[in-house]
Amino acid sequence: MHVIQTGADWNKYWLDSLKNNKIIGLVPTMGALHEGHLDLIRKARLRSDIVVVSIFVNPTQFNNQEDFEKYPTTLEADLAKLREEKTDFVFLPNTDTMYPEKPSLSINFGELERVLEGAFRPGHFNGVGIVVSKLFNIIKPHKAFFGQKDLQQTAIIKQLVKDLSFDIELEIVSTRRAEDGLALSSRNVRLSAEERKQSLVLYASLIQASEELLNGRSWLQVQNQINRNFEEMSLARLEYFELIHPESFHRYKEFDSSQKSSICVAAYLGDIRLIDNLPIIP
Ligand code: PAF
Repeated sequence: MHVIQTGADWNKYWLDSLKNNKIIGLVPTMGALHEGHLDLIRKARLRSDIVVVSIFVNPTQFNNQEDFEKYPTTLEADLAKLREEKTDFVFLPNTDTMYPEKPSLSINFGELERVLEGAFRPGHFNGVGIVVSKLFNIIKPHKAFFGQKDLQQTAIIKQLVKDLSFDIELEIVSTRRAEDGLALSSRNVRLSAEERKQSLVLYASLIQASEELLNGRSWLQVQNQINRNFEEMSLARLEYFELIHPESFHRYKEFDSSQKSSICVAAYLGDIRLIDNLPIIP
């Protein structure tokens, strides 16, 4: 496994791989790797000849400085996992490589960034859009792999690829869950034992809401019930619980089984913000 730190380092290998008609698959990450990331890497391994995993905790996508400072970093353990997965290259840039200067460009994702994550984390998707564009331009992959847990991020990146004509095939990999249902996330390691127990309310609410909608209850009733569950039965502070179209992120007022729908949730356990989502499959 080669560890590379700059685009110039990578370009030598990139030219070789081009000459040999190799398919390059990129898995962008912020490190603190868990089984969910490993699923992306395994998918990349299946679909590409050369797997590049980037690890960069991107400061510009954190709208909360404390969240950035507390973001877990486990580099040695990450590298060991990547070696085990037979990753070919790890791209490990530093902040100066990625941002020699503060970017003056900003990306407006329109309606997509005015709802849910976009509304609650101002500037977040601009930071994601810029760093992912930079990674695409530096690594020049044929394919890139992202997790479905960050559903709105996948919609943002699809739009980025379409609007900026990146010649990159995106693959979205299903959410990996712990046995009790909690979606794996790098932030989970910061949960106390009590918060970890309480965090189950996110997935439980998604399941309950999906079942009730499929049994004919109205979205308003379901949403009110879930709001009450959070208020009365959990330490988790609900930020949003919404029924949306999984690509446009248009918010539905009513469930219609003929339309694609997902439910998205965000909630705080202490100062840790968790998100999750579930497609509704009639
Ligand atoms: O999903 C993440 O880990 C990050 O948002 C990403 C895509 C690596 C960009 O920093």
